[in-house]
Amino acid sequence: MMKRRNFIIGTAAGLAASRVSTPVVAGPGLSTNPFTLGVASGDVTQDSAVLWTRLAPEPLAADGGLGRDAIPVRWELFQDEDMQQLIRQGEELAVPQLVHSIHADVQGLEPGREYWYRFSVGAHASEAGRTKTLPARNSQTESIRFVTVSCQNYAHGYFIAYDHIVADNPDFVIHLGDYIYETSYGVNFRRHETDVMPLTLDGFRRRHALYKTDENLKRAHARLPFFTTLDNHDAVIDTDPATMAIRAAAYQAWYEHMPVRGYRNPGDDRFELQRTVHAGDLIQVSLLDTRQFRARQLPCPGGRSPHGFGNYVVRCPEMFAEERSMLGEKQENWLAHNIQADNAPWNVIASSSVFSPFHLDINGKSYNFAGSWDGYPANRNRVVDAINRSNKGQVVVLSGDMHSFWAIDGMQSTAPADRFPGVEFVASSVSANWPDQMDKPIADNLVRNPQIKFYEPDRRGYLLHEVTAKEWQTTVRAVHDARDAQSGVFDLARFVVENGKPGLRRVF
Ligand SMILES: [Fe+2]
Repeated sequence: MMKRRNFIIGTAAGLAASRVSTPVVAGPGLSTNPFTLGVASGDVTQDSAVLWTRLAPEPLAADGGLGRDAIPVRWELFQDEDMQQLIRQGEELAVPQLVHSIHADVQGLEPGREYWYRFSVGAHASEAGRTKTLPARNSQTESIRFVTVSCQNYAHGYFIAYDHIVADNPDFVIHLGDYIYETSYGVNFRRHETDVMPLTLDGFRRRHALYKTDENLKRAHARLPFFTTLDNHDAVIDTDPATMAIRAAAYQAWYEHMPVRGYRNPGDDRFELQRTVHAGDLIQVSLLDTRQFRARQLPCPGGRSPHGFGNYVVRCPEMFAEERSMLGEKQENWLAHNIQADNAPWNVIASSSVFSPFHLDINGKSYNFAGSWDGYPANRNRVVDAINRSNKGQVVVLSGDMHSFWAIDGMQSTAPADRFPGVEFVASSVSANWPDQMDKPIADNLVRNPQIKFYEPDRRGYLLHEVTAKEWQTTVRAVHDARDAQSGVFDLARFVVENGKPGLRRVF
């Protein structure tokens, strides 16, 4: 028998401002295991972590098979892997307004240490998760190891890269966006739950749930804390006022499936996504939100070009307008402050799209990749100015979006105004392919772009960053074949940056 009572949610995490009246049922009413989507942790600081799960006995049903009841979920945090030493516990209410997702924001933890956790409802317990807090900001940190990933298209391949990421045992993962894909772009190696692009909250929930059933991705989330930001495929046309309702649905479903803070009320079309992450006294990461506040893409007359599926657009004066911003004014100021204020030896800018300029000529005409920072050159100039004026930590830009691996020396750009004393490493995709129509214009123009020290279009994988105060080392970790569920991984290339010395050196 289910027990019902009315429950007023006033202070549940993530729902601070909304008060909803929802019938509450006790957990034992669930006849099948509701923990089908795994567990995750993220948004860690030196003393906190967000622990995530979602109840969904029927993962691909829009409501997860739970209807309109609210269900109390218990969480427990242990300081040992055997889960004998319980140090913290609590209860959160899984509400239908957030599709029974749980974001337990656990505060007061110790810096730089591992914790293990699990959730339970009645007789059902989730699998065990493991997380790790960041080292204390003012503590001497010998080394940090982390990875950057982006662009996981379920339909294009397996997420096997994550098994190798887990084996590499990084302190954390930064996901640079395109966590889901709204369409499969003609390839159906694995089918999405529907070939129709999601446009509603139910549609985005089903798409996210499908991704969360992937066993490779599940294992990584259960083992490693994630930092996540959005890119274009996560929230479709996210800057067009006409599609704000779709953006709201996409943002809500994204929050419901991600171990993050920063979302307030169901239905919101905005989200506090930017983060300053301090990994001890070694690294400051400015994790950018490049989607929510950007000026409209494609400002040039003449519309879409036939090149690169319309992504490469003819340059025009409008594109260079002073007021065109990728980040919006507030975030621009925050980033300039971060670049100039922090004393850590490494100043990381983590951006979903590529920051460095690329000169793209096709049949004698100049083009820009409209979705990247090349579509917002005035904003980039302001960031470059801030970098050039700073005497603080050395800048390393980490980006994704290109479904190909790149290493870029910021001082080698042909236009002097574009140069900055830093480097950029672009992570390839976990599984999304890089079609010839996108690759060919890039490959044909490498000769005009001496700043590009490395470009590999045909490999999927991730970047492994191993950092000490003296040296930054990035290894390009490529999977042999993202369509082989057992695929191995290999080191395709390695780059070293010495602190105090701009530029990069290829080790192999
Ligand atoms: Fe992508």
